[in-house]
Formats: sequence, structure tokens, C-alpha cells
Amino acid sequence: MVAVGVPLFDTTTPLAPLRERILARVAEVIDSSRYILGPNVDAFERELASYCGAAHAVGVANGTEAITIALRAMGVGEGDEVVVPSFTFYASAEAIPPTGATPVFCDVDPESFCVTADTVRAALTRRTKAVVAVHLFGNVAPVAEIEALGVPVLEDAAQAAGSHAAGGRRPGGIGTAATFSFFPSKNLGCFGDGGAIVTGDEGIAERARVLRFHGSRDKIAYERIGYNSRLDELQAAILRVQLPQLDAWSDGRRAAAVHYERAGLGELVVLPQPTAAARPAWHLYVIRHQRIETVEAALAGAGHGHKGYYRTPVHRQPAMVAYAAGTSLPATDELARTHLAIPMSPVLTVEQAAAVTGAVRAALPA
Ligand SMILES: Cc1ncc(COP(=O)(O)O)c(C=O)c1O
Repeated sequence: MVAVGVPLFDTTTPLAPLRERILARVAEVIDSSRYILGPNVDAFERELASYCGAAHAVGVANGTEAITIALRAMGVGEGDEVVVPSFTFYASAEAIPPTGATPVFCDVDPESFCVTADTVRAALTRRTKAVVAVHLFGNVAPVAEIEALGVPVLEDAAQAAGSHAAGGRRPGGIGTAATFSFFPSKNLGCFGDGGAIVTGDEGIAERARVLRFHGSRDKIAYERIGYNSRLDELQAAILRVQLPQLDAWSDGRRAAAVHYERAGLGELVVLPQPTAAARPAWHLYVIRHQRIETVEAALAGAGHGHKGYYRTPVHRQPAMVAYAAGTSLPATDELARTHLAIPMSPVLTVEQAAAVTGAVRAALPA
């Protein structure tokens, strides 16, 4: 038998059994002639809010605009500062300047990849209006500890749909508000771009609804400079078929992590550590090693998927250096150099985990 490389992620296999139901829902939408802010968006918003344990969800065009709109709905604006990690996808910080506020970069805990109350505290000033706490790779940032510092938290849950936090809570139902991305490769992904804001605060939800629709409630009066940023009916219909599967897919991601542990990967490299009492639905499974380029070369040689996602952290990106003068983030710089995402999906098998681990072992004998 020819050995087959393990892909970095697999979005096709989990969706295959849903194909007919998705096609039927898409046909319903087409036949209904209702494509923008119709019954599927309404229903998906209710279903997502309920899943997250929050009162409100507002569908928007993508996870980046979700952050900008949520921050503005939380009252962030000109002259404010928003604390954000640098070890994250660029959009977590990119979404801040359009609010009028300035991003202030903080460090992360190298074991969990997430911000902590200590790393956030070091970046707080009198101008801090909010913190964007990124649930990176599906891990869950300690939101309650950060809010205990007296600053509202926007959870960037783009990578953490399906994860569990302490006390049975879920990303989306912990902070003042939360944002999701439904980019196709996400834990809950649609067939294009999509996003949502989830919150327990009626005022934030109301302002987000107005902002996503040109700053208007009725398309007659325009009270704010807003956006055309709506989740569309087709994507909402597709997401409604998928949401009931999210818990099973998340169990599959957790099982995949166990397969890696049982294969002995932790004896070779540093494995990601869940934050206290969290049960992450690992979006990406990110390992660390001082000689990570050796691991990369071994996985490439064996045909297994791998990617160093954030080799240049956000505060060192050309568009962000102006906001980062004098910023020193040692854990972020170390992670940027030493991290590597290896294959992860809801359907990763024991054999696949063993194959990936075998390739790493061959390169890094214990
Ligand atoms: C952590 C994080 N924040 C924000 C985003 C932005 O989401 P989108 O691509 O839907 O705009 C993403 C994903 O791409 C992400 O991974």
C-alpha cells in the first residue's frame, strides 16, 4: 500500500453526509427569493445565541467586520485603546483602527497561546476601553479573570466554535460580547464568508444590528455611519444544517488530540495545553519545538500537512509597526519562531496521528 500524507485539515469528509440536506436548504432559499436578512438569518441567530448560552446573535459578513462592529457597539471609538494579542491572525488587530481606536499589543501565555490577566494588565492604560481576548486555536482565554481587571472583554472566538470553558460555559457566552468567523475552514464554516456577534447585552446587540445595516433601523433614517455587513440567507441556511453537528465534530477534534497524546507525540515536542478547566475543540493543533524547522522538513518529506501560521507576529507586520513602537513581547516572539500546526480535523484517525507522530519521531529521536 502506498502511504498517503495526512492533510492539514479535512473539511470535506465531515460535510459529506450533510450534502443532500444542504442542497435541499439551498434550493429552498433560491425558491423563496429571500436572500438578505430573511427567515434563515433570523433562525440561525436564535440558534447560535442559544448554543452559546447568550441572549442575542447578530449575523454579519465576516469575522473581521464582526470585531469592528462589536467594538463600536460596545462604545469603542476615537481616542480609545483596545488591548489585543500579537500572536493571533492579523484580523484580530486589523479590526481595531476602523473604530477610531488604537491597538495596544499584549503578550500571551506560551503554554496556552492565549492572553492572561497578567499579560493584559501590563498593557492597560487610562485610555483602555476594551480587550480583544482571542480564543486562539480553539483554546479558551481566561475571560472572567480579565474582566475582573475592570475592563470589558470582546471574545474573538473565530477559532473556538464548539469549545467549552470552565463552568459549562462556551465561547460566545463568557465576555461582554464575542465574535465568530464562519470562514470555510473554521470549526463551523459556511461556503463563503460569514460571521456573527454574540452578546448577552441587548444594547450592544441593538447597536450591532443598526451598524451592520448602514447605520439604519428602517432604511429611511440613517443614524450612524455603518456598514453593509450582513450574513446572507444562503450561508445562514447552510450553517443551520451544520450547527447541530458542531458538538460531535468538536468531540472528534478532542479525540484527535488524544490520538496524538497516545501516539507519544508529547515525548518529542511540546503539545498545546488547555487553559484551566477548558475543553478546547482544537481548530488548529499547534506543537512547539526549538528545532521546529527539522520537524517541518520531516513532515514535508512524509507528505503530511503542516504550517507555521504566525511566523511574523502582528505587532511586527508592516501595517502595525506604527502602533507597536517600544513594544516588547518575548513569549510572542518565541512562539512565532517555534510553533507549527500539524494535521487536525474532526475525523483524524488513530492511524493518521500515528503516521504524523512517526514522521516527527524519525526526525527527532527521543
Ligand atoms: C482569530 C481570528 N480572528 C478573526 C478572523 C477573521 O475572520 P474572517 O476571515 O471571517 O474575517 C479570523 C479568521 O480568519 C481569525 O482566525
